[in-house]
Amino acid sequence: MTVTVQRAEFITSYADPAGLPRGGPAEIVLVGRSNVGKSSLVNTLAGRRNLARKSATPGKTRLLNYYLLEFRLGGRRRRLHLVDAPGYGYAKAPRSERRRFDALMTGLLDPQRDLVAGAVQIFDSRHPARDNDLEAWDWLAEQELPRIAVMTKTDKLSNNQRARSRSAFARALGLEPLIFSAVDGSGRHELWTAMTGLLDAFTSDPDNAANDGDDHAET
Ligand code: GTP
Ligand code: MG
Repeated sequence: MTVTVQRAEFITSYADPAGLPRGGPAEIVLVGRSNVGKSSLVNTLAGRRNLARKSATPGKTRLLNYYLLEFRLGGRRRRLHLVDAPGYGYAKAPRSERRRFDALMTGLLDPQRDLVAGAVQIFDSRHPARDNDLEAWDWLAEQELPRIAVMTKTDKLSNNQRARSRSAFARALGLEPLIFSAVDGSGRHELWTAMTGLLDAFTSDPDNAANDGDDHAET
């Protein structure tokens, strides 16, 4: 089974949680420390080089960036909003910036919106999870969001290092991470499959019936 991305579009950026969509396709939010490779992962999933801009200056992405993706997997066509969240843990970020990040995430997960099917948290495979990675991971669990863990930049590791890194993350997170690389494309299919699982679980919940991935109504 292969995945075909039929449409990939940058929709818009939100600086203010009050303006976030109140309807439309289910959302999957990408979380990870600044510079970990979130935008690169969006591009790899979409199969586009420059859909999401890679930042030369870490911590530059301070908005919620919405991407619409339509894809076909397992004979079914689905759509979602992939939400590239601002990277946390940027050392130079002032306190006001961090408060804004918290407000954006809280707004995104506002139960009144009820659009977020789950979260993909991205970890740098070359380093152990840091305190703020684990804080974010636990926070997502507290929000009762289904989570997928991805370790990226695995093209930089030997097979041996990759296996060791994966067990270390599995122990720290309590969940086996997917192995990913934006450079060689490994893990792309596995991540699409895992995300499809999140979408299917979300849309099959009667509470979320209005957010069916097959709904082609414009947002
Ligand atoms: P912010 O938006 O600043 O939080 O960063 P980000 O998480 O979106 O990271 P981005 O995708 O901009 O990537 C940061 C740097 O890591 C860039 O120089 C990328 O080229 C590099 N990078 C991202 N993914 C990979 C990967 O899988 N392998 C390698 N070798 N480099 C990567
Ligand atoms: Mg980015």
